[in-house]
Amino acid sequence: MKNIVNLEYLTNEEIYEILDEADAFAKGKKVDYQGSKCIAYLFFEPSTRTHYSFEKAALNLNCKTQNLDIQNSSVLKGESLYDTVRFFESIGSDAVVIRHPENDYYKQLIGKINIPILSGGDGTGQHPSQSLLDLLTIRQEFGSFEGLKVVIVGDVQHSRVAHTNFKIMERLGMSVYTSGPLEYKEEGMNYVDFDEIIPQVDVVMLLRVQHERHTSNMSLSKEEYHQQYGLNRQRVETMKENAIIMHPAPFNRNVEIADDIVECEKARIFKQMENGVYVRMALINQVLKDE
Ligand code: NCD
Repeated sequence: MKNIVNLEYLTNEEIYEILDEADAFAKGKKVDYQGSKCIAYLFFEPSTRTHYSFEKAALNLNCKTQNLDIQNSSVLKGESLYDTVRFFESIGSDAVVIRHPENDYYKQLIGKINIPILSGGDGTGQHPSQSLLDLLTIRQEFGSFEGLKVVIVGDVQHSRVAHTNFKIMERLGMSVYTSGPLEYKEEGMNYVDFDEIIPQVDVVMLLRVQHERHTSNMSLSKEEYHQQYGLNRQRVETMKENAIIMHPAPFNRNVEIADDIVECEKARIFKQMENGVYVRMALINQVLKDE
């Protein structure tokens, strides 16, 4: 696997291979690059989890890391994405991890950059490493994907997590529904009523409202959002016994999720974060081992 930028470019076999290797890392598998590989991190959008768990993954494999401080870089002098990435290739980086606000940003790099590109998310497009850690968390819980039902709730239209998961989960045999404010509904993504679907699904996946991508303010107040679409104790009581709650984070307590639900018995949110390191170790190892 040369680049990991879009799960649509990977076969089901390749996806299972990544998940199996991530599981092996979770169980203590060791790979030691002994500092011989260096990974560069280029984050053009804010990130805590994706950035630092991708970096922790590299450190766990004994790689070296470099982080581009965008605010103090030549990006502010107008340097293009290609020229920035080409620089890191020139100084000997072995792979780059990029998050960028532009959908499909990676298309201008592939074929021109000869080191692997791992995407930490492109605009509202794809978030491959997040979907893979979501899949790992679901498989650890239920053993397989076939026949499971998931509802993705919230700002579906602006969420790369929703877009990536909707396609890959359907491809792996799950039934995927979406719900949330009608202003963020997306055609062709099985929109359903939130309260009606909760008792039927195995996974309730919540999303943050992506205010930074909006051109106008949300019509609902935070309180109204919480009342209509927030996962609270009352709604959790209607979930199936073995159903789980997921959220890519950052989450807004008492908006899409009630404060006391974030770490309740059904919540797997911090488990997702832990799995993020194993999945990203697998991704880094996949792209570096053939270099
Ligand atoms: C998500 C993202 O950046 O797409 N977060 C993440 O990577 N864990 C979702 C979000 O920002 O709401």
